[in-house]
Amino acid sequence: MDFKGKVAIVTGSALGIRRGIAVALAEQGADIDGFDILVKENEDLAKEIEALGRKALAIECDVSDKEQVRSSVNKVYETFGRIDILINNAGVFNFTYAFNSDYDETIELFDKCMAVNARGTYLCSLAVVPIMLKQGSGSIINVITNHVKRDKYRPGVLEQGYDASKWAQLSLTDTLAIELKPRGILVNAICPAATDTPMLRSYLDVAGNYGCRTSLPSMMTVEDVGMAVINILNWGPDGPVGQAPLVTSREDCENLKFYQGEGRTILS
Ligand SMILES: NC(=O)c1ccc[n+]([C@@H]2O[C@H](COP(=O)([O-])OP(=O)(O)OC[C@H]3O[C@@H](n4cnc5c(N)ncnc54)[C@H](O)[C@@H]3O)[C@@H](O)[C@H]2O)c1
Repeated sequence: MDFKGKVAIVTGSALGIRRGIAVALAEQGADIDGFDILVKENEDLAKEIEALGRKALAIECDVSDKEQVRSSVNKVYETFGRIDILINNAGVFNFTYAFNSDYDETIELFDKCMAVNARGTYLCSLAVVPIMLKQGSGSIINVITNHVKRDKYRPGVLEQGYDASKWAQLSLTDTLAIELKPRGILVNAICPAATDTPMLRSYLDVAGNYGCRTSLPSMMTVEDVGMAVINILNWGPDGPVGQAPLVTSREDCENLKFYQGEGRTILS
């Protein structure tokens, strides 16, 4: 893909993996629009993107809010006149107990994960689709997690809301890919394992309280995940869609250049 002049929205743009993705896209030549609820951190990222010689907008947007998503996407379109790439990266994680828990509090935590991780992915995708359809092209990538790779990982413990929302994201990747590929819009996902971000560090800080492990043998960097996203976008219109490759190391991220599909539903 020639990224020069392309316009990308990265959600959850204030912290963590977003930085790796946004900077990688900007280095390739794309202009970046960040949607986040954290205003200052989002503006800091926009300045970093501008320092790379690209245009950037920091938009305060709660991706679980239908009207905020609609108006934020409209603002990007009014400003740049196109939207080529959407990275659904915004996410929240929380621990939820199925036993010995406060019913209302636990449901609230579950709803929060579903609202941001699953509904946010759907709202942002639906909002950009009409614009991508008009252009006849566009790419959407959903940032999921290794937790949906059931053949390789045990389901998360005490993570009902997080994991349910991530499986919903995986399902959205499939269904949107099938529907949109014939219309020129390419939908894929990425399933990163542990990546060094504020989300992971706050998980490790409290994991011991929940009987979960508090350290990991290795973590990817946000730059690794940024490189993986660029490699997926480079599959282009002749590449597969509906894919959700697992990445656990920098090498995996690099090797996505040569990805041939995983044996799950391969749509091309
Ligand atoms: N860090 C990891 O190890 C890891 C592994 C697998 C998948 N992921 C996924 O990667 C994505 C990014 O995670 P991260 O580790 O960078 O997390 P993070 O907490 O460091 O960053 C998440 C970003 O999302 C933003 N956000 C939260 N709620 C939002 C909302 N309602 N609207 C808009 N923005 C909102 C936060 O403000 C923050 O900027 C998430 O979807 C996460 O599930 C992370």
